[in-house]
Amino acid sequence: MSHGPLKLAFLGSGAGTNFQAVIDAVASGRLSAQIVCAISDNPSSRFLERAREANIPEHFVDPGPDSRKFPEAAQQAVYDLLTASHADVVVLAGFMRLLKDPTLSAFEGRIINIHPSLLPKYPGATAIQDAMAAGETETGATIHQVTAALDAGPIISQQVVPISPDDTLQTLRAKINAVEQEMIVDVLKNWR
Ligand code: GAR
Repeated sequence: MSHGPLKLAFLGSGAGTNFQAVIDAVASGRLSAQIVCAISDNPSSRFLERAREANIPEHFVDPGPDSRKFPEAAQQAVYDLLTASHADVVVLAGFMRLLKDPTLSAFEGRIINIHPSLLPKYPGATAIQDAMAAGETETGATIHQVTAALDAGPIISQQVVPISPDDTLQTLRAKINAVEQEMIVDVLKNWR
């Protein structure tokens, strides 16, 4: 690990609200860290726009034509960018592709993912819908280490979010998002 403030790299595909929470925490001095790069598989994402607005080096990595795949060339490109940025910690913040080697081995124990359920319940891309469809009265948010197994690495932090009978996907997602945003800043604050 390098000296000085923690160097953070972010990967995201969508709205980037968790990314923004960390940008704001760093800007306000609540979190002592430096965001060294933002990488996305989606060139028109709000996530990348937020990087641009905050003057954080932003990179698009072409995922190719298959929406479920992130091929070897893309995996290598991510690895090259992360290594060049000297990131200490890599945060997957709504990154909807599977990260593999060489990044997983090179950053072992230093890649974390934000997931909208109480893992090990409801892994995968539709975790909020799945918890609602199962009739759960509570779900939550989890921050965990990323390993080769999908959404199954060691859990770092977890918080319950109650589901009320009148919740819609949209209202529940907003509640979970708000919890995630606090959690990710706290986890990074306590990183050692
Ligand atoms: C977050 O709710 C995160 O938990 C979820 O995507 C959202 C991204 O929001 N991640 C996954 O579902 C990963 N399987 P954001 O782009 O606004 O931070």
